[in-house]
Amino acid sequence: MDWGMKNRLARIFNQKSQRTVMLAVDHGYFQGPTTGLKRPRETVTPLLPYCDSLFVTRGVLRNCVNPSTNTPIFLRVSGGPSVLGELSNEDLTTSMKEALKLNAVGVGLSIFVGEKNEDRTISNLGKLVNEAEEYGMPVLAITAVGKDMARDARYLGLACRIAAEIGAHMVKTYYCSEDFEKVVEGCPVPIVIAGGKKMPEKEALEMSYNAISKGAVGVDMGRNIFQSENPVAMIKSVRAVVHENYSVDEAFELFNKLKSERVVSSVVE
Ligand code: 5RP
Repeated sequence: MDWGMKNRLARIFNQKSQRTVMLAVDHGYFQGPTTGLKRPRETVTPLLPYCDSLFVTRGVLRNCVNPSTNTPIFLRVSGGPSVLGELSNEDLTTSMKEALKLNAVGVGLSIFVGEKNEDRTISNLGKLVNEAEEYGMPVLAITAVGKDMARDARYLGLACRIAAEIGAHMVKTYYCSEDFEKVVEGCPVPIVIAGGKKMPEKEALEMSYNAISKGAVGVDMGRNIFQSENPVAMIKSVRAVVHENYSVDEAFELFNKLKSERVVSSVVE
């Protein structure tokens, strides 16, 4: 592995825990102005100091994120359809040159295993990896789940393994309560979990805890952080689970404590 690739991976993962808390705010690329991301700058600014990287599109990055930030940027580079269309109809939207210009530490693209455009999105992943490796850029494959797909270990394991076989350096998938460890075992590259729809804070912390216990290296979480009643308290509590091995009860206690202190952010950007 060349120096650039090693350096970018080292910036994605916390050097002590070797895990990562990515903050996903890319939802608008197919959902438009969703709850919690109507004004991205307001949502992102107080959370930036607490995520290990920000998973974002170039449009929100350029317009809503202060370029003086030290937080590594993970760029979503696929898209195409909106929520009104066929979601699997994605292609590459952002070039490698652009990712380099934006000083990204990684690029992410969705694959739609079992969906209408499965083959094209997997082939897009292969093309992206070919190009990314020329420049030492890690690729995150996102195993998007189609409308009719069961989020079980069999399906998620299939999608994650395919992503790794095609060359993804990391995979983002959903957590499943049964046999998630088999999904991890079957995937030779690190797995982070997406949070999915907003759930009560304790449940989201429990899901993070279970995913880490079963071998995930972190989270790429969005709605369960930025739609929380206290997003900064929530991301700090997720960090405690991921990086400091807090139990669910300890992390939830931390969340309630920070919430009662009305913590916003100790860092001004
Ligand atoms: C959408 C994505 C999101 O980044 C991903 O779903 C993470 O966000 P959330 O935790 O809200 O599910 O890749 O396709």
